[in-house]
Amino acid sequence: MLSKHNLVLGLAKNIRKGTWRSISSKEVFEKEEKYAAHNYHPLPVALCKGKGVYMWDVENKRYFDYLSGYSANNFGHCHPKILEALEKQSKILHHTSRAFFNDVLGEYAEKITKLFGYDKVLPMNTGVEADDTACKLARKWGYYKKKIPKNQAKIIFCSENFWGRSLAAVSASTDPTSFEGYGPFMPGFSCIPYNDLKALEVAISDPLVCAFMVEPIQGEAGIKVPDEGYLKGVRELCTKHNVLWIADEIQTGLGRTGKRLAVDYENVKPDILVLGKALGGGVYPVSAALADDSIMLVIEPGTHGSTFGGNPLGSKVGIEALNILENENVAENANAMGKIFRKELQSRLKKEIVTDIRGKGLLNAIVINSNYAEAWNVCLKLKENGLLAKPTHDDIIRFAPPLIITEEEIHQSIEIIVNTVNNISS
Ligand SMILES: Cc1ncc(COP(=O)(O)O)c(C=O)c1O
Repeated sequence: MLSKHNLVLGLAKNIRKGTWRSISSKEVFEKEEKYAAHNYHPLPVALCKGKGVYMWDVENKRYFDYLSGYSANNFGHCHPKILEALEKQSKILHHTSRAFFNDVLGEYAEKITKLFGYDKVLPMNTGVEADDTACKLARKWGYYKKKIPKNQAKIIFCSENFWGRSLAAVSASTDPTSFEGYGPFMPGFSCIPYNDLKALEVAISDPLVCAFMVEPIQGEAGIKVPDEGYLKGVRELCTKHNVLWIADEIQTGLGRTGKRLAVDYENVKPDILVLGKALGGGVYPVSAALADDSIMLVIEPGTHGSTFGGNPLGSKVGIEALNILENENVAENANAMGKIFRKELQSRLKKEIVTDIRGKGLLNAIVINSNYAEAWNVCLKLKENGLLAKPTHDDIIRFAPPLIITEEEIHQSIEIIVNTVNNISS
């Protein structure tokens, strides 16, 4: 029998390792199902710990994280510098509201604007809020600067866009799962096909259009990569028709696609740049809309805001996330690892099972032939084999690990994916 002393020592060791839990996976599922709203359909895994590119479940099984919390954990779980910034600042001053100045926001604003080349930042929290902010900015610019008649401004989006779940966001959505049952919808929003410059030119020739909002790679739509030259074309057309180009880089930004921003691939600068997710290092919601003064200054005191946006805690975490982006070669690593990942999958996955492999950097997807399996069932098998990924549609699986993944880890995870997928039988 174990002595009391050994029991206590063992328990302390497990608590230190973060592996001790009094709760089973089954209990975790039941509690969440019973008390949390059913607005998600999670993969059946009960996680309790994360470090780097790994997460552990309550039974202490380790998994590669191939979702990165929908790309919020670009710098990995528990990055020491993010944790240090969070911990230190939380003990000094965490929240003030912007009723007052605080001694961190200015430093953060200077850093983010200089890094991305804009005059000003408008700090928010979640992605959807920052996108909504961009739409508000564009409408106001439309009335004040473009002289669009009152309440007639239009914003153009692309089919299969995704920018969140607010009423405005679902008003722009072409996915019935997002919008069905939530009408009436926001007027002045319409969609054109993605990756279609002709359709864009027709749409924005309308003098009532104030903005075109687009993701440089459509994430939730299933990692849709536009043709080379699309973003350049968007820039040229928006300039020609005096329409603001809003780039939603909430998922693609901050190294995810192998460059600092996905628009850097075509050396173009959007009029409004929207960032979120990884800007908060995965530990705190930090988002931002960036623009030059000619646009940003149409918003005056009292006309837009957020209780938490720009608080000292979020600002400090944001500074640290940007430091990591600048100093730890994460975009370069995403680029290099992404190349290995796609090359290996392209040469090794059975073509009859996987009909497409696409992506940039570490934002990738495979399309599963539905005659063989549903993406959901493949994700269940991947989970059994130690890798967590989530379908974006019935037949598409997104692969988006933290950008700090090493070459050894990428090869190990490729083995899991290849063995799992190639063993599917029709
Ligand atoms: C491109 C894009 N924009 C906006 C959002 C919304 O971000 P949040 O969920 O933080 O509101 C998402 C979320 O996945 C996204 O992928």
